[in-house]
Amino acid sequence: MFWKETLRLRTLPIITKIIISLFLVLTGIGYLLGFTNIYMTYNMVDEKPGLSIKDISLTYYGARDKTTLEKAIDGSMRQYFLDKNEYKIVKDWVVDGASEDVWDSEIESIFDASCSTCHSEATALAGVVTEEYSDVEELLTQNSGKSWSRIVGVSHTHILAITPLVFLLVLVLSFTSYPLLLKNVVSLFAFSAVFMDVGFWFLAKLSPFFSVFVLIGGMSLGLTFGLLVVLPLYDLWIKKV
Ligand code: HEC
Repeated sequence: MFWKETLRLRTLPIITKIIISLFLVLTGIGYLLGFTNIYMTYNMVDEKPGLSIKDISLTYYGARDKTTLEKAIDGSMRQYFLDKNEYKIVKDWVVDGASEDVWDSEIESIFDASCSTCHSEATALAGVVTEEYSDVEELLTQNSGKSWSRIVGVSHTHILAITPLVFLLVLVLSFTSYPLLLKNVVSLFAFSAVFMDVGFWFLAKLSPFFSVFVLIGGMSLGLTFGLLVVLPLYDLWIKKV
């Protein structure tokens, strides 16, 4: 890319070759530290060691199945309602957004009769209290993953930091003695990897289906850094003409 015929990197004075090599090596170390940071931050999200698709989907999409309250009334707590109709009233209330007005007018009395015997301030079985709206509110939060504003915030620093770095590395690669085709393919791949790496975060926020692509994007960026660091170093010091 950029230059077709040049004085190749390898013909530079030794001190210049060392300086360029230091740039390459430090960039490689920087990438590995960045990767370690990602691993250490995210590998335990699903409470199991090792970075997995589950870690990624919990991070970006969150666990949006049901709230704690909904799970409980659909599960082992359902038997405590006086009748089916009361269950239905509470279920509809939860699904409709669990407003405080309806709590006051209809729900509180049901909970007082059916739930708060075991879930009073004093007994608090399973650490759950169902006496006041503020108690029940805690059972209604849903985990929807990383916020959009956080994703936008991280993406802009990520893109603005990585793109110039990749550009410099591509520039170094363009002065190597590899075939033009190889240089072009690696360079185009490098920029598309930056694009994929960040782009898939947004898609993974929309749907857990894309979590696996976040992994693919991350691996593409890893491969990019690997190639852009190793190829020029090999060309500088080892490759025969
Ligand atoms: C007879 C006592 C009793 C009654 C009545 C009762 N619960 Fe429970 N509740 C428990 C116990 C024991 C647990 C912990 C074991 C379990 O989850 O099955 C629990 C757990 C829960 C949890 C936590 C579940 C979790 O996943 O952490 C919620 C929420 C809950 N109850 C809500 C309710 C609601 C709403 C009602 C009324 C419809 C109700 N409970 C009625 C005894 C009771």
